[in-house]
Formats: sequence, structure tokens, C-alpha cells
Amino acid sequence: MRFDVVTIFPAMFAPVFDQGVVGRAIEKGLIELHAHDLRDHTHDRHRQVDDMPFGGGPGMVLKPEPVIEAVESIRPHNPGPVILMEPWGERLDQRLVESLAIEPGLIIVCGRYEGIDDRVRTALNAREVSIGDYVLSGGEIPAMVLVDAVARLVPGVVGDPESLAQDSFSIEPSGWPQFTRPAEYRGMSVPEVLLSGDHARIRQWRRQQASQRHGLHTKELKQT
Ligand SMILES: C[S@@+](CC[C@H](N)C(=O)[O-])C[C@H]1O[C@@H](n2cnc3c(N)ncnc32)[C@H](O)[C@@H]1O
Repeated sequence: MRFDVVTIFPAMFAPVFDQGVVGRAIEKGLIELHAHDLRDHTHDRHRQVDDMPFGGGPGMVLKPEPVIEAVESIRPHNPGPVILMEPWGERLDQRLVESLAIEPGLIIVCGRYEGIDDRVRTALNAREVSIGDYVLSGGEIPAMVLVDAVARLVPGVVGDPESLAQDSFSIEPSGWPQFTRPAEYRGMSVPEVLLSGDHARIRQWRRQQASQRHGLHTKELKQT
């Protein structure tokens, strides 16, 4: 799967994705990640990507032409949907991640300043995605969250497919309390059932703990 990210800070991506699961997947050729400098798609001496908002107001807005031209230059290499990272977009959850993971690629645009000129969305038939109801200073960290979540669903990226099946929001969610050695630490013991070797009991205990946790979480969400 191919990810193309359009940003004014392309250098932010390599240090994050050179390592870990995604780094290994890139090395193996399972995924490709290209960070494109938005300023390469400007035509003026100052490589200006932003301008004042029509109608007044504070801050600057990302101009439509460089963004649209950047995406057009990527399009021949990536047939996937265009996603604009925006705080008011569709909320990213595991279901959305799963639906994006079956695309051949994603073209992700990172906003800055007061956001992206709205004509970009119209011209590129783009989807807007938010990573949560809070405002960050740019779309780069949200784009990294999206790439990481989607990449780990690409076949082969996570070595043991069972760990995906057991992820917190999968059909058979895990999210149960996990323990490793030592079995006792500062007076805190690992639950006896996990040391019992009785796999049926362990499975039952884990299911019960996971559903308790997920139930609690849903209740908390409903109350807010
Ligand atoms: C400072 S924010 C724009 C804030 C804008 N004034 C607002 O209130 O919605 C600049 C950029 O950061 C990114 N961003 C900030 N928070 C985000 C979030 N929760 N999810 C996705 N992108 C976000 C977007 O790309 C956005 O265009």
C-alpha cells in the first residue's frame, strides 16, 4: 500500500517511520511512504503556500493551487482517496481505519495555520478526517496517526496476524489486562488464573475482563 503525504514539513515523517513495525514494513516493501513538500508546488519566489482569509479574521489559510497541484502530481502513482486532516472531519476510529486499509493507497494532506481553502475538498472530492475533538497546530501528527493505524492492517506488516485479531477494537477484542514477568512485583501479583496453564479458563477470564473494560469505556463515552 502506498501513502503519499503533502505537508510543509516533510522531514517530520522519516524519524517516526524509520523505526518500528512501519519502518520494517517499508524496508520489506510492504508499504511505501512518500512525504511531499507543498512548497515544491508553488510558482513564486517566496514559495508561498498561505494567504489571508477572505472575509477577514485571524491567521492564514493554505492556498488551493499548491495543494491541488501537489495532489495532481501524485495521482498517476497513487489511485487512492484524498484525505484532508481537519479537526472537524469524520472521527477516526478502527472501523474507518479498516475501510481505508483496503484502498490501494491514500493521499493525505496536512493542514496548517487556520486550515485548508475549502475548494481543495471540492476539487479533489476529498474526505476530511479528524483524530479527535481537540486542535493541534498542524496535520502532520494526525497524518502519522492515520498512516500508522492503517499500515498495521496491511497484510504482513504485523508479523503475527493473531495480534491483529486480538486488537482492542476487533471483532473479538482484547484490551484485557496484560502481565509479564516477574509474577510478583512490590507485592502485586499476577492473577492466579494466568499462571494456571488452563487455557479454557484463561480465555474465559480474558473475555470477561475485556468486555468489562469495553463496557466501562462505552458507558463513560455515553455519559460525556
Ligand atoms: C491549527 S489547526 C486549524 C484550526 C482551525 N482554526 C480550527 O479551529 O479548526 C491547523 C491544522 O492542523 C490539523 N489538525 C489540528 N487538529 C486536528 C485534529 N484533531 N485532527 C486532524 N487534523 C488536525 C489540520 O490539518 C488543520 O488544518
